[in-house]
Amino acid sequence: MLKRIAITAASVLALTGTAFAAGTEAPHIEDIAFSFEGPFGTYDEHQLQRGLQVYTEVCMACHGLRYVPIRTLADEGGPNLPEDQVRAYAKQFTITDKETGEDREGKETDNFPHNVDAGAPDLSLMAKARAGFHGPYGLGINQFFRGIGGPEYIHAILTGYTEETKDEAGATFYENHAFSTGWISMPPPLSDDLVTYADGTPATVDQMAEDVSAFLMWAAEPKMMDRKRAGFVAVLFLGLLTVLLYLTNKRLWAPIKGKETA
Ligand code: HEC
Repeated sequence: MLKRIAITAASVLALTGTAFAAGTEAPHIEDIAFSFEGPFGTYDEHQLQRGLQVYTEVCMACHGLRYVPIRTLADEGGPNLPEDQVRAYAKQFTITDKETGEDREGKETDNFPHNVDAGAPDLSLMAKARAGFHGPYGLGINQFFRGIGGPEYIHAILTGYTEETKDEAGATFYENHAFSTGWISMPPPLSDDLVTYADGTPATVDQMAEDVSAFLMWAAEPKMMDRKRAGFVAVLFLGLLTVLLYLTNKRLWAPIKGKETA
């Protein structure tokens, strides 16, 4: 039985291997040691705050974040902003009220605005919708070890531009090594010192790309830390249960097994 499984697995591997080798090579995505990775990883609230700044000052011009409630910026384990700052942040937006149909100032109970004017995709779930790591042979096996790589993908897109552009069908495309087709219609959004970080972190393209990718990961999965904590407690509990069941089993069978050896 085991042998048959092994043979099947080997032939599947061999078949998919040749299939993927025939296709174009996946772009190289650099692995980043984000603070939230690993079984005990947590979001770095300062990084999330810097990422929020980059998102607000740069990306928001074209992109939306329509599924993310503004009030979650105050969440512990997230950006952890003070309530009054969150309220002030929400105020900068003009929201069309769903009930009255009239424009009003944003409130923290609103979601981030959506934005489709530039034809740019919504970024709420982007960090979970894209994968950075596919190999070997596109099987995704190393995703078990390195994660799906959504934030790494976003970082790679933001830092993957060459200076090349081309015009096609009335639109301009920018060469980008991380993008699937190699040519993306998003102009390079970042340049050194584009934002000024309040905490004095130098705003290099790489740093801003990393911060905004971490922020978008949090936006896509704000409860990641709770999920990890619940998983850890479950494993701990199952471990304890195993020990207890083992001891119970020993005790239950002791009279019978005892007789046998006697
Ligand atoms: C000038 C407008 C503009 C700005 C500013 C901008 N983007 Fe984009 N972005 C676009 C457009 C347009 C697309 C669609 C590109 C395509 O599909 O060719 C896009 C696509 C993307 C994608 C999706 C790539 C994919 O795999 O489909 C990501 C991720 C992204 N942008 C992140 C960002 C981040 C992060 C920022 C801020 C640092 C940002 N963008 C700023 C216009 C913009």
